[in-house]
Amino acid sequence: MSGIPHDHYEPKSGFEKWLDERLPIVGLAYGTLMIPTPKNLNWWWIWGIVLAFCLVLQIVTGIILVMHYTPHVDLAFASIEHIMRDVNGGHMIRYIHMNGASLFFLAVYIHIFRGLFYGSYKAPREITWIVGMIIYLLMMATGFMGYVLPWGQMSFWGATVITGLFGAIPFIGEPLQTFLLGGPAVDNATLNRFFSLHYLLPFVIAALVAVHIWAFHTTGNNNPTGVEVRRGSKEEAKKDTLPFWPYFVIKDLFALGLVLIGFFAIVGFMPNYLGHPDNYIEANALATPAHIVPEWYFLPFYAILRAFTADVWVVQLVSFVTGGIIDAKFFGVLAMFGAIIVMALAPWLDTSSVRSGQYRPAFKWWYRLLLIDFVVLMWVGARDTNFPHDWISLIGSTYWFAYFLVILPLLGLFEKPATPPATIEEDFNAHYPGAAE
Ligand code: HEM
Repeated sequence: MSGIPHDHYEPKSGFEKWLDERLPIVGLAYGTLMIPTPKNLNWWWIWGIVLAFCLVLQIVTGIILVMHYTPHVDLAFASIEHIMRDVNGGHMIRYIHMNGASLFFLAVYIHIFRGLFYGSYKAPREITWIVGMIIYLLMMATGFMGYVLPWGQMSFWGATVITGLFGAIPFIGEPLQTFLLGGPAVDNATLNRFFSLHYLLPFVIAALVAVHIWAFHTTGNNNPTGVEVRRGSKEEAKKDTLPFWPYFVIKDLFALGLVLIGFFAIVGFMPNYLGHPDNYIEANALATPAHIVPEWYFLPFYAILRAFTADVWVVQLVSFVTGGIIDAKFFGVLAMFGAIIVMALAPWLDTSSVRSGQYRPAFKWWYRLLLIDFVVLMWVGARDTNFPHDWISLIGSTYWFAYFLVILPLLGLFEKPATPPATIEEDFNAHYPGAAE
């Protein structure tokens, strides 16, 4: 296999050789743990481990919750109360699972924006990026379906609004919506299929995480300079890297410990802070809540969904040109999914010859604006759609698309980047002069 030249596992004892010829599992573990890793990785590189931890945490707590949860419209809400009140440690397991979803999304957003800044999506890491995007979409699907399970008011109405979006697709929308719901409205069949998929998808995500890791182990990690590890010889590669074990394992575990202090402070002291009080009211198909608000991690894309109303001229134009097939509602759905698709296409839209944003003076400013845009969209996604929120979401959504479709391609052509260091070793020694031998 190609990649950074490094030491390989050599079976020594008779048993090791016997096993290695039949199942080279020790070699695989050795290769994974001892993988040469750029020695200049900064703290933005810890979030992959936090993500892996979150996935395991969600699966373990989820499986315990399932032991006491009942996926039936008459019993689901009560079974959650039963978990909270009667099951030993049940409230804690539930609060960890609830807030674990938030930590998962916080980590994934930092991880994605890290990639967007350091150009980790650029060649040859396109597959790592695309697999990451598929994981992210599946995380959203899993989070959405999980939120329906407690069968509170927000569960029910959130599910009604979001599955209603599929109804906006021309021609096949309504049959598709009925198929997804298992009937004409959100009901027991919906709860059951969401439960089934909510249980299944984390395992699909786990398999994709293995592919994700395989992909970036093949190309090697990116790093803050965006300069590749030298591959001429093992000795040369060793000057740019350190083995993952023990250096990065210790660093990542230390960082994970710090993150978990914050996480458990929230779980222990303010577990419902990120939740919505209406979800402690049992689902009622006859009483619509005053404001239907999704979880915080959906808000930026929810804002994009709502931004394109029938008053926007682009929507009117598209609707006219397509003879009304793409109406405002369908336009919103396309914009929401389009916002993620343009991000997934970043490897091909970014034309810069320099990978890391650290050496791109103009890019830095547009990137900062994208970060602000994301936070503003998140804020406005939880507001009503009256003035000025309608304008803010429209401007914010437009910038999101402009960044990927116009700014990234043009910047590469017009920007004068600074010169990155020639090697990772040079960058490392400049930062840690004392560490150089
Ligand atoms: C369950 C979700 C995920 C897990 C467990 C995960 C795990 C990891 C790990 C362990 C790394 C190694 C470096 C690091 O820690 O940052 C990594 C790198 C990377 N991830 Fe993810 N990831 C996930 C989701 C995503 C998503 C949604 C994206 C965005 C599309 C993404 C894009 C990347 C990229 C581009 C790299 C390469 C960076 C480098 O070369 O160092 N990942 N991921």
